[in-house]
Amino acid sequence: MILFCISSLFLIYKCFILCTTVCLCPVGGIYTVIQTKAKITVDEWGENYIMMGPYYEHNFKTQVEKCEPPNQAIKAAMDSLINNGSQVHFGRWLIEGSPYVILFDIGAAAWNLDRWKGDLWNECSIGLPYHDREANDSLIFGSLVAWFFKELTDQLQDKPNVIAHFHEWQAGTGLLLSRSRKIPLATIFTTHATLLGRYLCAGNADFYNNLDKFNIDQEAGERQIYHRYCLERAAVHCAHVFTTVSQITAVEANHMLHRQADVVTPNGLNVRKFSAMHEFQNLHSMNKAKIQEFVRGHFYGHLDFNLEKTLFFFIAGRYEFSNKGADLFLESLSRLNYLLRVHKSDVTVVVFFIMPAKTNNFNVESLKGQAVRKQLWDTTQFVKEKFGKRLYESLLRGEIPDMSKILDRDDFTIMKRAIYATQRHSLPPVTTHNMLDDSTDPILSNIRRIGLFNGRNDRVKIVFHPEFLSSTSPLLPMDYEEFVRGCHLGVFPSYYEPWGYTPGECTVMGIPSVTTNLSGFGCFMEEHVSDPSEYGIYIVDRRFRSADESCNQLTQFMFSFCQQSRRQRIIQRNRTERLSDLLDWRYLGRFYMYARHLALSRSFPSKFKMDHLNIAPVSPANTHTLSDGREINIKLIQFKILYIYIYIYIYIICMCVCVCTLLVKILGSERFFMFFFYRSFLCSSRLHLFDQK
Ligand code: UDP
Ligand code: G6P
Ligand code: GLC
Repeated sequence: MILFCISSLFLIYKCFILCTTVCLCPVGGIYTVIQTKAKITVDEWGENYIMMGPYYEHNFKTQVEKCEPPNQAIKAAMDSLINNGSQVHFGRWLIEGSPYVILFDIGAAAWNLDRWKGDLWNECSIGLPYHDREANDSLIFGSLVAWFFKELTDQLQDKPNVIAHFHEWQAGTGLLLSRSRKIPLATIFTTHATLLGRYLCAGNADFYNNLDKFNIDQEAGERQIYHRYCLERAAVHCAHVFTTVSQITAVEANHMLHRQADVVTPNGLNVRKFSAMHEFQNLHSMNKAKIQEFVRGHFYGHLDFNLEKTLFFFIAGRYEFSNKGADLFLESLSRLNYLLRVHKSDVTVVVFFIMPAKTNNFNVESLKGQAVRKQLWDTTQFVKEKFGKRLYESLLRGEIPDMSKILDRDDFTIMKRAIYATQRHSLPPVTTHNMLDDSTDPILSNIRRIGLFNGRNDRVKIVFHPEFLSSTSPLLPMDYEEFVRGCHLGVFPSYYEPWGYTPGECTVMGIPSVTTNLSGFGCFMEEHVSDPSEYGIYIVDRRFRSADESCNQLTQFMFSFCQQSRRQRIIQRNRTERLSDLLDWRYLGRFYMYARHLALSRSFPSKFKMDHLNIAPVSPANTHTLSDGREINIKLIQFKILYIYIYIYIYIICMCVCVCTLLVKILGSERFFMFFFYRSFLCSSRLHLFDQK
C-alpha cells in the first residue's frame, strides 16, 4: 500500500506543472496568490514547476534572472515560437521559491491578432470587438500559450504528462484553445471572481438575494462584456477541474457560469514571512512611530490631539467603491465621529484610505506639511546641539549654568519662527494627491456629504492616499506591510469580495481587522473559528441585515475598539496573531494539490487514479461532503497533534541514544551490555518466580 503511494507520487512528480496566469495588474489579490503560493509549489514540484505570463520589459529587467530552460523539450518549444516571429523569454522570478517563468511578448505577436481572432471564431464561435484591448491581449496571450503547449506536448509524447493551471478569464483563452485543439493536458481553471458578479455588485444590484433570478446573457450584453463573459464561461466548462477561492464564490459561479466548482481552493499566505516570530509587537511599535511622523506633518498646526491616544484605522485595495465597502465605511465613520464627540472621548482616530485612483502627483499642501515637520525637527536638533554644548562647557568649568540664560535671544527667535511656520489658514487636506476626477470621485463626494473635513472638533480624521504605498514615497515612505503593522485596525466591510486578502494579511501580522460575511475570508473564519471577534476578526453581517443595520454594527465594532485600553489592544493583537497558522499555504496548499490530482485522474484516467493518491491528512474531498465545513479545522489540529507526537518520539529516541552512548563511554561497552543483560535476566527470573508462586 505504502509502496503503491510512493510509486504513484513518483509518477506525479514526473509531470510538469505549468501554471499560467496573467499578471496585468502588478498589485492586487490575484498577484498575491500567485506570488505567495510559488514557494510551496516549488517545494513540491522543484524544477518541474513553471509559471507563465505576459512579458513586460521593465518587470523582466528588475524581477527576473534570465537563464536557459532546464529542459530540452521546453527549449525546443520556445525556439519553435521564436523562429516563427514571436518573442518568448525564460528566467527565474526573483521571489520566494525562485520559480521558473516563461514570458510571452504580447506586443511582438500582435500582428497575428486578426488571424487568431478568426481561429477563435472558427474553433469556439466567440468573436472579440476591436476596441477591447484587454480581451485582445488575452487572445494573443492565450494563442501563444496554446501554441507553446502544442509544441511542448509534441516533443514530450506523453512522457511526462503536463498539468496546466489557468487563473482568471484573461488566461482562460489559452485553456479554451488548448482543449479545442485536443492538446493532451490536464487543465485546471481557477476563478478569483466572476466577471458578472463583480459588475452586478458594483451596479448596486441586490446580488445575493437574486442570484437565481438574473438573466445572465442579457446582463452581460447590457454591460458590453458579453464576449469576455463567453471567454470566461467557456474556459470554466472546458477545464478538467474548476476551482474557486471560496464557498461563497462557488455558489455565485454556479449561478453565473453554470458549473459547480470541483474544489474550493482558499487563499493562503507564507506565514513565516509575516509573523516575524515574537517580534511583531515591537514591529507594530516601530512602524506606528513612522505613521505618527507622517501624521505630525500632515496635521501640522492642528495637532491639538494626543498622538499617544490616537488610533490608526485603514482600508486598502483596488478602488471599487461599493464592492470594497468604502461607502459603508464612510457612513460608519461619520457615526463614530458623532459617538466619540458626544461621549467626550479623548481618543482620536486617523483613518487612511489606500485605494489607487487617477491622480496628478502629490498635492502641495501635503508635501508642505512634511517639509514643515522636517524644518521643525531640524530647528530642534540645532537648538539641542547648542544647548548641549553650552551645558557641557559650563559643567567642565564646574558650574551649573543658569537655565534661563543658556539660550540667547537668537535661539528664541529661531524657535519662534519655527512655531510661526506651523500656522495654517486651511484645514489639513483630506487627500494627499491632486485628484483628476476631484468633483466626481466617490470617496471625496461622500466625504463632502458627511462633512468629515479634518476639523479641530472632529474626532475622526481622514487621509485619502489614492496610490498604493511604497517605501520610496517622499510623503509616507513605508511599504504596505510596514504600514499595516503600524496601524491598529484594518476595516474591510466589502460587499463583493470572493476572498479578500487584506484582512488575512492583517491577521498574520497580528493586527485586528473588520471583514464581512459576504467575503470569502469572513465566511472561512466564521466556519473555522468559534468566536472570531475574540481573536480580533470582526465580521459585519451584510447578508441578513439592512444597510443601515450593518452600518450601525460596524460603528459599534469601531466604537468598542476605541474604548479598549492599550493593554487590551496588546492582548488582542497576541490573540489575532495566533490564528495565522490557519491561513498558511502549508495547510491551504493541499487544496491545490487535490485539484491537480483530480485533473490528472480526469484527463489521463488510465495512468492516474484518484483512490491511489494519498494526499491526506487534509482531504478536501472529505471536507466537501460535510455540511458545516468544520472538518478542515479538526483535521488541521489532528495533523498538528500528529506532528507533535512524532517530535516527542524522535526526542525520546535521541535522548535514549545519548544516554546509552554516555553509559558506554563511562562503563565501557562490555560492562554496559553486562549491566543490561543482567537486569533483563533478573527481571525475567523475578517474573518467573512470581509466576511460580
Ligand atoms: N496591496 C498592496 N499595496 C497596497 C495596498 C494593497 O500590495 O498599498 C495588496 C495587498 O497586500 C493585498 C492586495 O493588494 O494582497 C489586495 O487584495 P484583495 O484580495 O484584498 O483585493 P483585490 O484587490 O484583489 O480585490
Ligand atoms: C507593542 C509594543 C509596546 C507598545 C504597544 C503600543 O505592544 O511592544 O511597547 O506600548 O505596542 O500599543 P498601541 O495599541 O497603543 O499602539
Ligand atoms: C480577486 C478578488 C479578491 C481575492 C483575489 C485573490 O481580486 O476580488 O477578493 O482576494 O482575487 O483570490
